[in-house]
Amino acid sequence: MTEQTLTPEKLLALKAQYLMPCVYHFYRKPMVIVRGEGCHVYDQDGKAYLDAYSGVGVNNCGHCNPAIVERTTAQLHKLQHMTTIYLTEPMLKLAAALAAFLPGKLNRSFFCTSGSEANEGALLLAKLATGKNDFIALSRSLHGRTYLTAGLTGIAFWRSDPQPPQNIHFAASPVCSQCPYQLQYPACHIRCADEIEAIAEQQPQRIAAFIAEPINGNGGIVVPPDGYFEKVQAILKKHGILMIMDEAQTGFCRTGKRFGFQHYAIEPDIVTVCKALGNGLPISAFIATDAVAECYTRPGASTFGGNPVCAEAALGVLAFMQEHELDEKACVTGTLIRARLLRLQRQHPLIREVRGRGLMLGAELVRADGSPAVEELDALLEHLKDLGVLVGKTGPERNVLTLMPPLVLSGAEAKYLCTSLEQAFAELAITEVPTVIGRVC
Ligand SMILES: Cc1ncc(COP(=O)(O)O)c(C=O)c1O
Repeated sequence: MTEQTLTPEKLLALKAQYLMPCVYHFYRKPMVIVRGEGCHVYDQDGKAYLDAYSGVGVNNCGHCNPAIVERTTAQLHKLQHMTTIYLTEPMLKLAAALAAFLPGKLNRSFFCTSGSEANEGALLLAKLATGKNDFIALSRSLHGRTYLTAGLTGIAFWRSDPQPPQNIHFAASPVCSQCPYQLQYPACHIRCADEIEAIAEQQPQRIAAFIAEPINGNGGIVVPPDGYFEKVQAILKKHGILMIMDEAQTGFCRTGKRFGFQHYAIEPDIVTVCKALGNGLPISAFIATDAVAECYTRPGASTFGGNPVCAEAALGVLAFMQEHELDEKACVTGTLIRARLLRLQRQHPLIREVRGRGLMLGAELVRADGSPAVEELDALLEHLKDLGVLVGKTGPERNVLTLMPPLVLSGAEAKYLCTSLEQAFAELAITEVPTVIGRVC
């Protein structure tokens, strides 16, 4: 059954004519996604795809989750919009629910609509709380598209601003397999964290905050070594620098815990959340401890922040996650898929490393000569699409096959994902790749 009136070719023509050229897409011949249900999306011809990327880590509770859709729709019929300057129940219930869902003293929320906006707000809050102006980010970071958050984005692929802000300092990302010092963990004593101390010492009384993801998503699903964030937090405390954890991808049970930072013995001062909070509706927040939040007294408002429809969806997300123990589910299913990826690695030397936690997994593809297997990954994406499976790609070199399926993935769906991956790797005719497939983006 055809569900789309405009063909993919016609839509591509509209895209070429009316969207900014920067808006790129996956696949040589992209399909039109018209419907989603659970872990699947469907194209214009009714073909089903197992969505192992969840619209980049958004649909943690599955596409069009009925329980969430039901309460969101009910709210849509009741009250669609009132901004933060009025009292509305969903926003305040959500703030209380988030404080309960988060550990420790992270009690105060400010709602907005995107991850970029949440990070930008967190940075402003850090400036207000410390009276300082500079920031430290990691070299493989991505934190958004606003002026400041784009400036905090270290990955060259995503850095478009020719004149980024000057108050940002980069420290090496903790990637043990590509250690810039050629050291081995743990004998290295986590030397990369010392870069943060060096920046703090070179810029005395200037650094307001350090921002990082608990597991680096766009940098290629990089899990820092044990002790990294603990060492970083000790350095930050010594220098009066706040810690901001960007939970855009790692939040809401994705990594097997409610939040990624809970894998470490740290207490962030500010946490930013977006993506999976709305399961597809645009809602984000920066959430701080009472102590940090109390300095933000000048008027702050956001037109769509805490919008009742989005807040109701987010309340549905939190309820569903707790009821279905999605943190535990992500851990169990993620462990199974990880084991299959490791088995695949033993069969295919192209896979240099399997990384990640829970259902945030990556396989870095590198050729025998050490170069990033970019074209091979593009070919795999095409093969998998033909098999009815959508996966992602990340990493500064765009050579990390990335899996972030909905956390409601069933055992049978996980098995299908793994067998499809095995089939796609088996079919990959490496020598033909550059000529036959070419570079997609
Ligand atoms: C880690 C991280 N932070 C921030 C953002 C920006 O979020 P948004 O696209 O909602 O502005 C993203 C987007 O992918 C992200 O992955």
